[in-house]
Amino acid sequence: MKQIQHNRRTVMRTVAGLAMSALIPLGVAQAADPIKVGMMLPATGTYAKLGSAIDNAFKLYVEEQGGTLAGRSIEYHAVDDESDPAKATENANRLVVRDGVDVLVGTVHSGVALAMARVAKQRDTLFLVPNAGADDLTRAQCSPNLFRTSFTNWQPAYAMGKAATGMGHKTAVTLTWKYAAGLEAVNGFKQAFEEGGGKVVKELTTPFPGVEFQSFLTEIAALKPDAVYVFFAGGGAAKFAKDYAAAGLKDSVPLYSSGFLTDGTLGAMGGAGEGLITALHYADGLDNAKDKAFRAAYQAKYGMPPDVYAVQGYDAAQLLHAGLKAVGGDMSKKAEMRAAMRSATIESPRGNFTLSSSHNPVQDIYLRKASGEENPSTGIAAKALADPGTGCKM
Ligand code: BEZ
Repeated sequence: MKQIQHNRRTVMRTVAGLAMSALIPLGVAQAADPIKVGMMLPATGTYAKLGSAIDNAFKLYVEEQGGTLAGRSIEYHAVDDESDPAKATENANRLVVRDGVDVLVGTVHSGVALAMARVAKQRDTLFLVPNAGADDLTRAQCSPNLFRTSFTNWQPAYAMGKAATGMGHKTAVTLTWKYAAGLEAVNGFKQAFEEGGGKVVKELTTPFPGVEFQSFLTEIAALKPDAVYVFFAGGGAAKFAKDYAAAGLKDSVPLYSSGFLTDGTLGAMGGAGEGLITALHYADGLDNAKDKAFRAAYQAKYGMPPDVYAVQGYDAAQLLHAGLKAVGGDMSKKAEMRAAMRSATIESPRGNFTLSSSHNPVQDIYLRKASGEENPSTGIAAKALADPGTGCKM
Protein backbone atom coordinates (compact mmCIF):
# COMPACT_ATOMS: atom_id res chain seq x y z
CA MET A 1 0.00 0.00 0.00
CA LYS A 2 2.82 2.32 0.98
CA GLN A 3 4.49 1.59 -2.39
CA ILE A 4 1.25 2.39 -4.29
CA GLN A 5 0.89 5.68 -2.41
CA HIS A 6 4.50 6.50 -3.17
CA ASN A 7 4.03 5.71 -6.88
CA ARG A 8 0.88 7.80 -7.01
CA ARG A 9 2.67 10.75 -5.40
CA THR A 10 5.55 10.39 -7.86
CA VAL A 11 3.16 10.32 -10.83
CA MET A 12 1.26 13.35 -9.51
CA ARG A 13 4.53 15.22 -9.12
CA THR A 14 5.59 14.26 -12.64
CA VAL A 15 2.25 15.32 -14.14
CA ALA A 16 2.35 18.57 -12.22
CA GLY A 17 5.96 19.05 -13.33
CA LEU A 18 5.05 18.50 -17.01
CA ALA A 19 2.12 20.89 -16.80
CA MET A 20 4.26 23.51 -15.12
CA SER A 21 7.14 23.21 -17.56
CA ALA A 22 4.70 23.74 -20.44
CA LEU A 23 3.53 26.99 -18.87
CA ILE A 24 6.60 28.62 -17.40
CA PRO A 25 10.17 29.35 -18.51
CA LEU A 26 12.89 26.73 -17.89
CA GLY A 27 14.81 28.81 -15.37
CA VAL A 28 11.79 29.10 -13.07
CA ALA A 29 10.90 25.40 -13.35
CA GLN A 30 14.48 24.47 -12.50
CA ALA A 31 14.50 26.76 -9.52
CA ALA A 32 11.74 24.61 -8.00
CA ASP A 33 14.00 21.55 -8.01
CA PRO A 34 16.84 20.96 -5.58
CA ILE A 35 20.42 20.82 -6.77
CA LYS A 36 21.67 17.26 -6.35
CA VAL A 37 25.11 17.18 -4.73
CA GLY A 38 26.96 13.84 -4.78
CA MET A 39 29.30 13.57 -1.78
CA MET A 40 31.86 10.85 -2.50
CA LEU A 41 34.09 10.72 0.59
CA PRO A 42 35.66 8.09 2.86
CA ALA A 43 33.41 7.18 5.81
CA THR A 44 35.55 4.19 6.82
CA GLY A 45 39.28 3.46 6.98
CA THR A 46 42.34 5.58 7.77
CA TYR A 47 40.87 8.68 6.05
CA ALA A 48 37.36 8.46 7.62
CA LYS A 49 37.81 11.49 9.89
CA LEU A 50 39.08 13.56 6.97
CA GLY A 51 35.98 12.73 4.93
CA SER A 52 33.69 13.59 7.80
CA ALA A 53 35.36 17.00 8.32
CA ILE A 54 34.83 17.85 4.63
CA ASP A 55 31.19 16.73 4.74
CA ASN A 56 30.52 18.63 7.99
CA ALA A 57 31.93 21.91 6.76
CA PHE A 58 30.33 21.77 3.28
CA LYS A 59 26.95 21.33 4.98
CA LEU A 60 27.74 24.02 7.56
CA TYR A 61 28.25 26.57 4.78
CA VAL A 62 24.97 25.60 3.09
CA GLU A 63 23.13 25.86 6.40
CA GLU A 64 24.63 29.29 7.01
CA GLN A 65 23.00 30.36 3.73
CA GLY A 66 19.62 29.15 5.03
CA GLY A 67 19.84 25.76 3.30
CA THR A 68 19.76 27.16 -0.24
CA LEU A 69 22.40 28.39 -2.70
CA ALA A 70 21.23 31.07 -5.14
CA GLY A 71 17.63 30.12 -4.38
CA ARG A 72 18.10 26.38 -4.96
CA SER A 73 17.72 23.90 -2.12
CA ILE A 74 20.38 21.20 -1.82
CA GLU A 75 19.75 17.46 -1.91
CA TYR A 76 22.69 15.30 -0.81
CA HIS A 77 23.53 11.87 -2.18
CA ALA A 78 26.39 10.08 -0.42
CA VAL A 79 28.75 7.18 -1.11
CA ASP A 80 31.52 5.85 1.16
CA ASP A 81 34.47 5.55 -1.23
CA GLU A 82 36.56 3.62 1.36
CA SER A 83 39.66 5.33 -0.10
CA ASP A 84 39.71 2.42 -2.53
CA PRO A 85 40.73 3.29 -6.12
CA ALA A 86 39.55 -0.14 -7.32
CA LYS A 87 35.94 0.77 -6.45
CA ALA A 88 36.16 4.42 -7.47
CA THR A 89 34.75 4.28 -11.02
CA GLU A 90 31.73 2.25 -9.92
CA ASN A 91 31.13 4.51 -6.92
CA ALA A 92 31.37 7.68 -9.02
CA ASN A 93 28.99 6.19 -11.61
CA ARG A 94 26.48 5.46 -8.86
CA LEU A 95 26.29 9.14 -8.10
CA VAL A 96 26.63 10.54 -11.61
CA VAL A 97 24.61 8.01 -13.62
CA ARG A 98 22.25 6.31 -11.13
CA ASP A 99 21.48 9.35 -8.94
CA GLY A 100 22.01 11.94 -11.70
CA VAL A 101 23.80 14.40 -9.46
CA ASP A 102 24.38 17.94 -10.76
CA VAL A 103 27.73 18.23 -9.03
CA LEU A 104 30.18 15.66 -7.75
CA VAL A 105 32.15 16.54 -4.59
CA GLY A 106 35.14 14.46 -3.49
CA THR A 107 37.41 13.09 -2.34
CA VAL A 108 40.34 12.62 0.06
CA HIS A 109 42.46 9.96 -1.70
CA SER A 110 44.35 10.99 -4.86
CA GLY A 111 43.92 7.64 -6.63
CA VAL A 112 40.15 7.68 -6.07
CA ALA A 113 39.89 11.31 -7.25
CA LEU A 114 41.73 10.54 -10.50
CA ALA A 115 39.09 7.91 -11.32
CA MET A 116 36.27 10.30 -10.35
CA ALA A 117 37.74 12.91 -12.70
CA ARG A 118 37.47 10.51 -15.64
CA VAL A 119 33.79 9.77 -14.90
CA ALA A 120 32.99 13.47 -14.40
CA LYS A 121 34.75 14.38 -17.66
CA GLN A 122 32.91 11.71 -19.68
CA ARG A 123 29.57 13.03 -18.41
CA ASP A 124 30.60 16.71 -18.33
CA THR A 125 29.50 16.83 -14.68
CA LEU A 126 30.83 19.64 -12.47
CA PHE A 127 33.49 18.12 -10.18
CA LEU A 128 34.72 19.87 -7.01
CA VAL A 129 37.80 18.44 -5.29
CA PRO A 130 37.90 19.36 -1.58
CA ASN A 131 41.12 17.50 -0.74
CA ALA A 132 42.85 14.99 -3.03
CA GLY A 133 46.13 16.58 -4.10
CA ALA A 134 46.93 14.45 -7.19
CA ASP A 135 49.08 16.85 -9.23
CA ASP A 136 47.62 15.64 -12.51
CA LEU A 137 44.06 16.72 -11.64
CA THR A 138 45.14 20.28 -12.35
CA ARG A 139 48.02 19.45 -14.69
CA ALA A 140 47.70 16.94 -17.58
CA GLN A 141 44.16 15.90 -16.57
CA CYS A 142 42.87 19.42 -15.97
CA SER A 143 39.41 20.07 -17.32
CA PRO A 144 36.90 22.93 -17.61
CA ASN A 145 34.51 20.98 -15.32
CA LEU A 146 37.06 20.29 -12.55
CA PHE A 147 37.81 22.76 -9.74
CA ARG A 148 39.96 22.16 -6.68
CA THR A 149 39.71 24.03 -3.35
CA SER A 150 42.59 22.23 -1.65
CA PHE A 151 46.18 21.96 -3.02
CA THR A 152 48.43 19.93 -5.27
CA ASN A 153 50.60 17.40 -3.46
CA TRP A 154 53.53 19.42 -4.78
CA GLN A 155 52.54 22.70 -3.06
CA PRO A 156 53.05 22.10 0.70
CA ALA A 157 55.86 19.60 0.05
CA TYR A 158 57.82 22.07 -2.10
CA ALA A 159 57.41 24.74 0.59
CA MET A 160 58.60 22.26 3.26
CA GLY A 161 61.68 21.39 1.20
CA LYS A 162 62.56 25.07 0.88
CA ALA A 163 62.16 25.58 4.63
CA ALA A 164 64.26 22.48 5.43
CA THR A 165 67.24 23.74 3.43
CA GLY A 166 66.71 27.15 5.05
CA MET A 167 67.25 25.42 8.38
CA GLY A 168 70.65 24.22 7.15
CA HIS A 169 69.91 20.53 6.57
CA LYS A 170 72.08 18.90 3.90
CA THR A 171 70.82 15.28 3.74
CA ALA A 172 67.35 13.81 4.03
CA VAL A 173 65.57 10.45 3.90
CA THR A 174 61.94 10.35 2.73
CA LEU A 175 59.23 7.86 3.67
CA THR A 176 55.68 7.66 2.36
CA TRP A 177 52.76 5.47 1.45
CA LYS A 178 53.34 4.31 -2.11
CA TYR A 179 50.58 6.02 -4.08
CA ALA A 180 50.19 9.27 -6.02
CA ALA A 181 49.85 11.60 -3.01
CA GLY A 182 52.95 10.44 -1.19
CA LEU A 183 55.10 9.97 -4.26
CA GLU A 184 54.23 13.44 -5.58
CA ALA A 185 54.79 15.01 -2.15
CA VAL A 186 58.24 13.43 -1.98
CA ASN A 187 58.99 14.79 -5.48
CA GLY A 188 57.99 18.29 -4.39
CA PHE A 189 60.10 18.11 -1.23
CA LYS A 190 63.07 16.70 -3.11
CA GLN A 191 62.88 19.35 -5.84
CA ALA A 192 63.07 22.24 -3.37
CA PHE A 193 65.54 20.50 -1.04
CA GLU A 194 67.97 19.76 -3.88
CA GLU A 195 67.46 23.20 -5.49
CA GLY A 196 68.57 24.55 -2.09
CA GLY A 197 71.76 22.45 -2.12
CA GLY A 198 70.53 19.44 -0.09
CA LYS A 199 70.50 15.78 -1.15
CA VAL A 200 67.77 13.17 -0.64
CA VAL A 201 69.90 10.11 0.11
CA LYS A 202 67.13 7.48 0.30
CA GLU A 203 63.46 7.30 -0.71
CA LEU A 204 61.51 4.72 1.31
CA THR A 205 57.93 3.61 0.60
CA THR A 206 55.33 1.32 2.13
CA PRO A 207 51.93 0.28 0.69
CA PHE A 208 48.85 2.38 1.55
CA PRO A 209 47.43 2.26 4.23
CA GLY A 210 50.04 0.10 5.99
CA VAL A 211 51.29 1.09 9.43
CA GLU A 212 54.17 -1.34 9.99
CA PHE A 213 56.98 1.21 10.27
CA GLN A 214 59.58 -0.58 12.40
CA SER A 215 61.97 -1.71 9.67
CA PHE A 216 61.99 1.80 8.16
CA LEU A 217 62.78 3.38 11.53
CA THR A 218 65.70 0.98 11.96
CA GLU A 219 66.97 1.93 8.49
CA ILE A 220 66.66 5.66 9.20
CA ALA A 221 68.58 5.25 12.47
CA ALA A 222 71.37 3.51 10.54
CA LEU A 223 71.46 6.11 7.73
CA LYS A 224 71.64 9.05 10.20
CA PRO A 225 70.37 11.75 7.78
CA ASP A 226 70.15 15.42 8.86
CA ALA A 227 66.37 15.24 8.45
CA VAL A 228 63.43 13.00 7.54
CA TYR A 229 60.48 14.06 5.35
CA VAL A 230 57.30 11.95 5.37
CA PHE A 231 53.83 11.98 3.84
CA PHE A 232 51.21 10.39 6.09
CA ALA A 233 47.71 11.55 7.04
CA GLY A 234 44.75 10.51 9.17
CA GLY A 235 44.97 7.46 11.42
CA GLY A 236 48.25 6.26 9.87
CA ALA A 237 49.91 9.63 10.60
CA ALA A 238 49.18 9.34 14.33
CA LYS A 239 50.64 5.83 14.41
CA PHE A 240 53.76 6.95 12.53
CA ALA A 241 54.52 9.91 14.82
CA LYS A 242 54.09 7.70 17.91
CA ASP A 243 56.42 5.04 16.45
CA TYR A 244 59.00 7.67 15.43
CA ALA A 245 59.10 9.05 18.98
CA ALA A 246 59.11 5.57 20.57
CA ALA A 247 62.09 4.59 18.38
CA GLY A 248 64.02 7.47 19.98
CA LEU A 249 64.40 9.28 16.64
CA LYS A 250 62.40 12.41 17.45
CA ASP A 251 65.22 13.98 19.44
CA SER A 252 68.04 12.95 17.11
CA VAL A 253 66.67 13.28 13.53
CA PRO A 254 64.25 16.19 12.89
CA LEU A 255 61.01 15.03 11.27
CA TYR A 256 59.27 17.24 8.67
CA SER A 257 56.13 16.76 6.64
CA SER A 258 53.36 18.34 4.65
CA GLY A 259 50.97 19.45 7.40
CA PHE A 260 48.63 16.46 6.93
CA LEU A 261 50.84 14.61 9.40
CA THR A 262 49.66 16.78 12.30
CA ASP A 263 46.32 18.27 11.16
CA GLY A 264 43.49 16.70 13.14
CA THR A 265 45.83 14.01 14.50
CA LEU A 266 47.73 15.63 17.41
CA GLY A 267 45.23 14.39 20.01
CA ALA A 268 45.64 10.79 18.82
CA MET A 269 49.45 11.18 18.95
CA GLY A 270 49.24 11.68 22.71
CA GLY A 271 52.17 14.12 22.87
CA ALA A 272 54.38 12.43 20.25
CA GLY A 273 53.59 15.25 17.81
CA GLU A 274 54.69 18.07 20.12
CA GLY A 275 57.01 20.51 18.33
CA LEU A 276 56.77 18.86 14.88
CA ILE A 277 57.35 21.34 12.06
CA THR A 278 55.15 21.05 8.99
CA ALA A 279 54.08 23.18 6.01
CA LEU A 280 50.45 23.65 4.96
CA HIS A 281 47.97 26.15 3.52
CA TYR A 282 46.16 26.38 6.89
CA ALA A 283 47.25 26.88 10.49
CA ASP A 284 45.56 27.29 13.87
CA GLY A 285 45.11 30.78 15.32
CA LEU A 286 45.21 32.75 12.05
CA ASP A 287 44.43 36.39 12.58
CA ASN A 288 41.49 36.82 10.22
CA ALA A 289 37.81 37.42 10.96
CA LYS A 290 36.61 34.76 8.51
CA ASP A 291 38.63 32.05 10.25
CA LYS A 292 37.46 33.13 13.70
CA ALA A 293 33.80 33.02 12.66
CA PHE A 294 34.25 29.69 10.86
CA ARG A 295 35.99 28.07 13.83
CA ALA A 296 33.34 29.28 16.27
CA ALA A 297 30.49 28.04 14.05
CA TYR A 298 32.14 24.66 13.41
CA GLN A 299 32.93 24.14 17.10
CA ALA A 300 29.37 25.09 18.08
CA LYS A 301 27.78 22.70 15.58
CA TYR A 302 30.11 19.71 15.76
CA GLY A 303 31.67 20.05 19.24
CA MET A 304 35.25 19.96 17.94
CA PRO A 305 37.64 22.36 16.24
CA PRO A 306 37.88 22.30 12.45
CA ASP A 307 41.02 21.27 10.58
CA VAL A 308 42.37 21.81 7.08
CA TYR A 309 39.94 19.25 5.61
CA ALA A 310 36.98 21.15 7.05
CA VAL A 311 38.33 24.41 5.55
CA GLN A 312 38.60 22.80 2.11
CA GLY A 313 35.03 21.40 2.34
CA TYR A 314 33.68 24.79 3.41
CA ASP A 315 35.46 26.44 0.49
CA ALA A 316 34.11 23.87 -1.99
CA ALA A 317 30.60 24.97 -0.97
CA GLN A 318 31.65 28.64 -1.25
CA LEU A 319 33.00 28.07 -4.76
CA LEU A 320 29.81 26.30 -5.84
CA HIS A 321 27.83 29.21 -4.44
CA ALA A 322 29.96 31.72 -6.38
CA GLY A 323 29.13 29.86 -9.61
CA LEU A 324 25.44 29.51 -8.83
CA LYS A 325 25.04 33.17 -7.92
CA ALA A 326 26.42 34.17 -11.32
CA VAL A 327 23.71 32.19 -13.15
CA GLY A 328 20.81 32.78 -10.77
CA GLY A 329 20.88 29.12 -9.76
CA ASP A 330 20.49 27.86 -13.35
CA MET A 331 23.13 25.16 -13.73
CA SER A 332 22.28 24.65 -17.40
CA LYS A 333 24.32 27.84 -18.04
CA LYS A 334 27.51 25.82 -17.74
CA ALA A 335 29.94 28.15 -19.47
CA GLU A 336 28.82 31.21 -17.50
CA MET A 337 28.86 29.33 -14.24
CA ARG A 338 32.36 27.95 -14.79
CA ALA A 339 33.67 31.35 -15.87
CA ALA A 340 32.41 32.84 -12.60
CA MET A 341 34.05 30.05 -10.60
CA ARG A 342 37.34 30.52 -12.46
CA SER A 343 37.48 34.20 -11.61
CA ALA A 344 36.13 33.97 -8.04
CA THR A 345 38.09 35.18 -5.02
CA ILE A 346 37.26 32.81 -2.19
CA GLU A 347 37.18 34.41 1.24
CA SER A 348 38.56 31.34 2.96
CA PRO A 349 39.38 30.73 6.64
CA ARG A 350 42.95 30.07 5.38
CA GLY A 351 43.06 33.61 3.89
CA ASN A 352 41.65 34.75 0.54
CA PHE A 353 42.62 32.75 -2.53
CA THR A 354 42.03 32.76 -6.26
CA LEU A 355 42.33 29.88 -8.73
CA SER A 356 45.14 29.38 -11.23
CA SER A 357 44.29 28.94 -14.91
CA SER A 358 44.28 25.17 -14.25
CA HIS A 359 41.69 25.64 -11.42
CA ASN A 360 43.95 25.07 -8.39
CA PRO A 361 44.30 27.50 -5.44
CA VAL A 362 47.09 30.06 -5.52
CA GLN A 363 47.77 30.32 -1.81
CA ASP A 364 50.17 31.04 1.02
CA ILE A 365 51.82 27.99 2.60
CA TYR A 366 52.34 28.42 6.33
CA LEU A 367 55.18 26.96 8.35
CA ARG A 368 53.70 25.54 11.58
CA LYS A 369 55.03 24.14 14.82
CA ALA A 370 52.78 21.73 16.75
CA SER A 371 51.86 22.83 20.25
CA GLY A 372 49.38 20.81 22.32
CA GLU A 373 46.61 19.89 19.87
CA GLU A 374 47.21 22.85 17.56
CA ASN A 375 49.46 23.79 14.64
CA PRO A 376 50.08 27.53 15.02
CA SER A 377 51.91 29.32 12.23
CA THR A 378 55.50 30.43 12.76
CA GLY A 379 55.66 32.28 9.43
CA ILE A 380 55.03 31.90 5.71
CA ALA A 381 57.06 29.18 3.99
CA ALA A 382 55.92 30.20 0.47
CA LYS A 383 53.87 33.28 -0.44
CA ALA A 384 51.03 32.96 -3.01
CA LEU A 385 52.40 29.65 -4.23
CA ALA A 386 50.91 28.49 -7.54
CA ASP A 387 51.34 24.94 -8.79
CA PRO A 388 53.15 25.00 -12.16
CA GLY A 389 50.10 23.35 -13.80
CA THR A 390 52.43 21.60 -16.24
CA GLY A 391 50.65 19.99 -19.20
CA CYS A 392 47.25 21.56 -18.53
CA LYS A 393 45.42 22.39 -21.77
CA MET A 394 41.80 23.49 -21.48
C1 BEZ B 1 45.69 12.48 -1.10
O1 BEZ B 1 45.54 11.26 -1.30
O2 BEZ B 1 45.78 13.28 -2.03
C2 BEZ B 1 45.76 12.99 0.30
C3 BEZ B 1 45.21 12.28 1.34
C4 BEZ B 1 45.26 12.78 2.61
C5 BEZ B 1 45.82 14.03 2.86
C6 BEZ B 1 46.37 14.74 1.82
C7 BEZ B 1 46.34 14.23 0.53
